[in-house]
Amino acid sequence: MMASQFPSTRLRRLRYNNKIRDLVREHELTINDVIYPLFIKEGLEKKQAISAMPGQYQLSLNDLTSEIKEIVALKIPAVILFGIPTHKDATGSEAHNDHGIIQQAIRLIKKTAPELLVITDVCCCEYTRHGHCGLMDDSGIVDNDQTLTLLQKQVISHVKAGADVVAPSGMIDGMVAAIRHALDDAGFQRTPILSYSVKYASSFYGPFREAAEGTPQFGDRRSHQMDPGNGAEAMREAELDVTEGADMLMVKPALAYLDIIYRLKQQFTGLPICAYHVSGEYSMIKAAAEKGWINEQATALESLLSIKRAGADMIITYFAKDVARWLG
Ligand code: PBG
Repeated sequence: MMASQFPSTRLRRLRYNNKIRDLVREHELTINDVIYPLFIKEGLEKKQAISAMPGQYQLSLNDLTSEIKEIVALKIPAVILFGIPTHKDATGSEAHNDHGIIQQAIRLIKKTAPELLVITDVCCCEYTRHGHCGLMDDSGIVDNDQTLTLLQKQVISHVKAGADVVAPSGMIDGMVAAIRHALDDAGFQRTPILSYSVKYASSFYGPFREAAEGTPQFGDRRSHQMDPGNGAEAMREAELDVTEGADMLMVKPALAYLDIIYRLKQQFTGLPICAYHVSGEYSMIKAAAEKGWINEQATALESLLSIKRAGADMIITYFAKDVARWLG
């Protein structure tokens, strides 16, 4: 039989061995792409396992120094911090206490590892007694503009303590502009804002609520987080944040919203895009792997790579330490 009877285009030519596959690969995951989330709880003696997120912990300030040393040794470039205060009230006042849990944690991290990039999550839900992302109005929904004033106080307090990047996560309209003004007025023109621009009202945050103890005591977050049915609206959210001065845009969760990551990257070509591979996405892999149904390492790396392929420049992931070991 003559070979020429068959098509001459053979995509398999570039797949026959590792070397050629490595040469032609379009996207790669490296340790420089990952950000590790840390939960620091006030009043805790020693770290406590988060049952819904195997391998993740609520840390005490006592654990923080050794944890940070490990992170630096693994060459993870950045962490994002979540604080869990002992005292919660209606206005989330601990969020902007200069001696609050997160402010103490930032100072300690900067003392231990000045070169590690410290990003802080800026939101009220871990600090309010009702667990909502800001001040509530009389009708029981988050009051947009009063919350902006609180967020301004919170970022200034974080940056004064040493935070390198602030990441407002509340989906409050105007939060980026309000924070940019506050930072500039206080002399922090150099501090970048990583905005949680496109955050969906997602069921994939379930395990995080145990980690950060910020579950709404009534209602849900659908009055401010995005409806999973909407894609074009995500572009409006991002557009507004860009106009207001966001330096980086985030999409959250990641895997169920790869189309949104892709669209943002196409539309805002020059802006770095961050994706948050959230708690539920992590826990699903962990649970299936524990049962022996999937290979944890292969599934996690493939998931993270797909997020990069979609257009993310960086990924917040609970797998950050594993990535360091797997790629190391
Ligand atoms: C709000 C916040 C949440 C997450 C990050 N920041 C919870 C929410 O919006 O309800 C979820 C992250 C995750 O699930 O890993 N401060």
